[in-house]
Amino acid sequence: MSDDRTADADGVDASRRTFMRATGAATAASAVGAGAAGATTGEAKRTKRTVEDLIESMTLEQKVGQMTQVAVDDPEEGFDPDDPFLMHDQPDTVGELFTDLHVGSILNGGASGPTWDGEEFVAGLNGLQRHTVENTEHGIPFLWGGDALHGNCLLDGCTSFPQRLNMGATRDLDLVEAAATHTGEAVAAMGGHWNFGPTTDLLRDMRWGRFFEGHSEDSMLLGEMAAARARGFEDNGRVAATVKHFAGYGTPNTGKDRAHARTSMRDLRTRQLPAYARALAEAKTVMVNSGAVNGKPAHASDWLLTQVLRDRYGFDGVILSDWDDFLRLITNHEYLPDTEEGWRRAITEGILAGVDMHMCGGEVAPADFIETTVDLVESGEIPEERIDESVRRILELKAELGLFDDPYAPEDEIGDLVGGARDVSEGLAKESLVLLKNEDGTLPLSGTERVLLTGPGVEDGMPNRFLMQHGGWTLGWQGIEEGYPTEDGPRPRQSTLEGALADRLGDRLTHVPTEFSAAPYASIYETFDNGFFDVTDEQEAAIREAAPESDAVVVVLGEGPHNEGFGDRDKMRFPEAQRDLVELLAAETGADTPLVGVVLAGSPRGTEATFQHLDAVLFAGQPGSDAGVAVADTLFGDYNPSGRLPFTWEANVGHVPLFYDDYPPRQSVGASAGTVQFEFGHGLSYTDWAYSNLSIDPDSVANPAKKATVTATVAVENVGERPGEHVVEVYNTESYGSVLQPHRRLMGFARVDLDPGESTTVEIDLDLSTLEVIPGDVPGHRVRVVEAGEYEIAVGSDWVYGGDDGEDGATATLTVRKTVPVTDPEPMPGRYDIDNDGDEDFDDAMELYRRLKRRE
Ligand code: NOJ
Repeated sequence: MSDDRTADADGVDASRRTFMRATGAATAASAVGAGAAGATTGEAKRTKRTVEDLIESMTLEQKVGQMTQVAVDDPEEGFDPDDPFLMHDQPDTVGELFTDLHVGSILNGGASGPTWDGEEFVAGLNGLQRHTVENTEHGIPFLWGGDALHGNCLLDGCTSFPQRLNMGATRDLDLVEAAATHTGEAVAAMGGHWNFGPTTDLLRDMRWGRFFEGHSEDSMLLGEMAAARARGFEDNGRVAATVKHFAGYGTPNTGKDRAHARTSMRDLRTRQLPAYARALAEAKTVMVNSGAVNGKPAHASDWLLTQVLRDRYGFDGVILSDWDDFLRLITNHEYLPDTEEGWRRAITEGILAGVDMHMCGGEVAPADFIETTVDLVESGEIPEERIDESVRRILELKAELGLFDDPYAPEDEIGDLVGGARDVSEGLAKESLVLLKNEDGTLPLSGTERVLLTGPGVEDGMPNRFLMQHGGWTLGWQGIEEGYPTEDGPRPRQSTLEGALADRLGDRLTHVPTEFSAAPYASIYETFDNGFFDVTDEQEAAIREAAPESDAVVVVLGEGPHNEGFGDRDKMRFPEAQRDLVELLAAETGADTPLVGVVLAGSPRGTEATFQHLDAVLFAGQPGSDAGVAVADTLFGDYNPSGRLPFTWEANVGHVPLFYDDYPPRQSVGASAGTVQFEFGHGLSYTDWAYSNLSIDPDSVANPAKKATVTATVAVENVGERPGEHVVEVYNTESYGSVLQPHRRLMGFARVDLDPGESTTVEIDLDLSTLEVIPGDVPGHRVRVVEAGEYEIAVGSDWVYGGDDGEDGATATLTVRKTVPVTDPEPMPGRYDIDNDGDEDFDDAMELYRRLKRRE
């Protein structure tokens, strides 16, 4: 490795001075982000010139270094340049990653960094940045990236916003964006530049350990949520968002993380890709799917990364690999042999497919990646122009984020941000709760009851239920302190269930937590429960004593925090200890004692076998910091639940995956029900709702390409006795075309807030692209279109899925008169690659001509 430290007397090397002059940054004191936010055409041109000058003056090693992102993740590694770099043999210190290997970016994976303290974090990153800027030939600042996925949950005292699954239940794009804006600000104030979200992977399979990270199984809802979040993250101009994991990562085979996607070309093009497409315009970067699609690993797919992402969607930002994913072409996918040649091909295929930066985690040593890539370029296997293209995008990203104007973050901003945005977090938490069942108006409770609160968790006397309310990516990859919270360890700002109930009930609350220990890093063979659950003899005795004395029982059920493949499972039912606990409570309480289940889980946990014993069930998901207040306010009626399931809750795991917009039929021959426990969109309220006068304007569209949005107008009335918020959803419920139509499709939604007896008229934009299908026979390669025909449009659960949920619905008809594409007038990329060489060019036209002629 060359040592290019040529610092002069005051520590700034000559090249850096030249570079600062070239960018007009005489000192490094100008405002961060000015270059990005206020860029004039003149500035943009200057930046372009500067980037080109840099590329011309960089060595091949320096360029490939920029394409390298390195995990600084060992607990002993900090941000001090002299700290040892322990993940791999080379280099010796963290500082040498920049001075010797010229790396362009570092990351802290797993929502944890070298410190939980915001001020230390920003000071540490600034110090390391100064070292980089002042001691490298070109003084190019590095990008720091990490996973601030439901709030900046890398810092002690953080606000942990509800997890992504909860966000999907709110249907509240404004509040979701507000949460993301706060997160982006907190990442920037911590000194970070890159946030690896939003996840934009379609959800379908509760067995997948990352189910809690998706927003929905509906493509439009997911895409809109992801777009809102990307906008929020990037709002401050100093942070790049990442649409991930492109594409098809959310539907891994049988729910096994990083397995190949269960999809078809039609499904990919009408459901999976459109969600990413909605979010792409709002994000500067993309991360690639670790899995494979239709037999091709995404990291080696020119079709996905170049033909679709770059050429068709026009995405010109940075494409980042996921963790060690060039190597996973060998180890996970068995796509390439585990040899030196296999590794060379992995890098070559990944870079030629379109990856700009490789994330080197625990397995891929950065020095090895850089040396091998340099050699591949020198031996002509990867053209240097391809390298330059990636480096250009990376340097432009740095310029856009203002790093060349001022690479340092102000150190006095983070203090006020940690733990902030309480209103947003509490609002989102409340809106995200889904009331699944409420027999005979069991809820809300009156607040005068003596209440027994029980269910997991406590571990050896240490309360740990809060692990369940936050989930993964919270002060640790697998959950807070990786599932083993210490007495003085870091915590999000949090209100807990027991705390909030105690505040309300005082000594009318009896709390008997049962045993729970998290199961981080446990494989599916060890536990399918995402935790170990038990009820000790003492706990059982305390429950037997308290239950008959109580006027109401609240039992917490669910699962522990988990993440990625370690969270994969093969069961939907509750763990045995929880099932037994519910049965014990049912036996120990009288018929008129309300037995209420609160499910804290990042997936649909629970089946009728258990729910039948409960009078009411509230799916709380992983509501984060304000879980306690949100759940207590809802149980006692200060908040009227309004969340709607963003996924289908199958009757049992044998029916998974049974998403709501799959093709009919969704049941076995001869059966008419029994596969679904709670439908997509299900969510009860303490009041009743009635819809009337649904109309569509215009109700006949001549050409959806010219008129891609119509407006639904509907009167909504609160016909019950309590005020409440309510989400109005508009679906296409019946239509016919040249190919199968999805069972039903969500086209638009809006929230209302009404007093009893009050009504309002809402106007909801209906996005006609949600109706797109791919006509033609099995290959599914034709242009995506909305077909001419009549579309039944419906509101209200009784119409939409035959629900008996206190929602009196209405229907209308929309007529489309012409079959046309709405979002993309081109056929499937690659369709005209007649000679199979990966390009669609003149040769293909000639070959097509020859073939047509031969047939004549
Ligand atoms: C692997 C995960 O798949 C990805 O989502 C995450 O952003 C990276 N690790 C970095 O932590």
